[in-house]
Amino acid sequence: MKLYKVLLLLGILNFTNVCVPDFLDLKKSKDDNNLLLLALALSQGSGWVWNLPPGFPIPTVPSENPMSQAKVDLGKFLFYDSKLSANESMACSSCHFQNLAFSDGKTTPSGITSEAHPRNAQQLSNAAYHPRLTWSNPLLKTLEQQARVPMFSLAPPELGLANEDYLGKLKSDSNYQKLFSAAFGNGDSAVTEQNVRFSLASFQRTMISGYSPYDKATNGNRSAMSASATRGASIFNGEVAECFHCHGGFNFTDTTLHTKQTSEEFAYHNNGTHTQAEYLALPINKRGLEEITLLASDQGKFRAPSLRNVGVTFPYMHDGSIMCDDSANPGHPTGVASGATLETCARNALGKVIDQYVAGGKGHPNVDTTLIRPFSLQPSEKTDLINFLLALTDSEFLTDSKFSNPFQ
Ligand code: HEC
Ligand code: HEC
Repeated sequence: MKLYKVLLLLGILNFTNVCVPDFLDLKKSKDDNNLLLLALALSQGSGWVWNLPPGFPIPTVPSENPMSQAKVDLGKFLFYDSKLSANESMACSSCHFQNLAFSDGKTTPSGITSEAHPRNAQQLSNAAYHPRLTWSNPLLKTLEQQARVPMFSLAPPELGLANEDYLGKLKSDSNYQKLFSAAFGNGDSAVTEQNVRFSLASFQRTMISGYSPYDKATNGNRSAMSASATRGASIFNGEVAECFHCHGGFNFTDTTLHTKQTSEEFAYHNNGTHTQAEYLALPINKRGLEEITLLASDQGKFRAPSLRNVGVTFPYMHDGSIMCDDSANPGHPTGVASGATLETCARNALGKVIDQYVAGGKGHPNVDTTLIRPFSLQPSEKTDLINFLLALTDSEFLTDSKFSNPFQ
């Protein structure tokens, strides 16, 4: 295999627009070409090797925070460390569990106080590709910015950091002294609020999920997906169910940014989860994009969530309002008694999501009725669609030690 093909597979060359590098003079010796490629890799910045799943584009990384292994290693410790909360009772990982694709299984979580967050904890698979973060805040454009919210927000408190004590705790920890120096140099002065956020962002950018049965089938191993799931894919991508319009592309959402895009794509939709009367009865921080724009026309609008690993990210929707029945829920005594598993819950809850779409949503003036309108689905087709959604679960991602708790 030619060296440039190996590099392409490793993702080293993908960040250029040159697909197959025609600067390579194949008459030159292999060593000369190796040097050219090395020079190219170095000239492109950090020389970070992404090791992306086949077909995945290179994520866009803010120029002020290039990827490095030292930052990723540091970010992983910080993500799992309760030193990052005011009373050392919670970490990022307290609401983002790897086995649930970094969601938390709750309707809505609470931070270090008992006050509930207005929204459901999001999963983090492929967050590197989101040009707008969270359910409905277009002002949060990078993971570096977003980390401020759980660290410092008081509405409601999540980690509740109110002063710089946490930096002192990190500075006096010999493990962190080494990790911060490796990532940023300069001993104690490297332990800053910004460097904490930058490392968390670098670690989260590595949380890439692309080895589900669906991906394996797409990349040639047809038998990786069942016949039923394959039929479900056609329903998902068809003009009756219309799912792909909002949940399309490699990341199953229409809001993406990566290095092969000339501009970011982002959109907010009202998919008919609640009626207007239901929203009007709620405080503004539960009404989606309207909270930020104060426009009634943005009521109930949310970023279409990526459906990757959707088989483990229930309860569904911004408020976690669609959940399986207790008898299908492995976390409920009735479910335990009936031998419920994550899969029984996902099947049951996804069935409810599909029922909502089949009914054309609950009706709201902001729903785009060309995409969300009643349609019919045979029971067997509903099962096919559920099987397709479950084929988006990447079990390697859910257990990969690259993302797991470094303190254990
Ligand atoms: C108390 C629970 C809680 C804690 C602790 C927490 N999160 Fe979250 N996380 C959430 C919730 C809830 C959301 C959805 C927020 C919203 O829509 O406003 C979210 C959203 C996110 C998102 C946006 C994902 C997307 O798809 O746009 C990222 C990234 C994230 N959290 C990272 C972190 C990091 C990093 C930490 C630690 C510094 C952290 N979270 C701590 C609950 C939590
Ligand atoms: C008009 C755009 C649009 C269309 C079409 C659409 N969705 Fe959605 N979908 C959304 C939005 C927006 C949300 C989040 C809504 C909320 O939280 O209230 C969502 C949420 C979901 C969720 C919950 C995911 C989670 O993590 O909470 C699933 C599952 C889902 N959609 C599946 C589908 C399927 C299957 C179809 C086709 C039958 C479909 N969607 C069609 C926009 C759309």
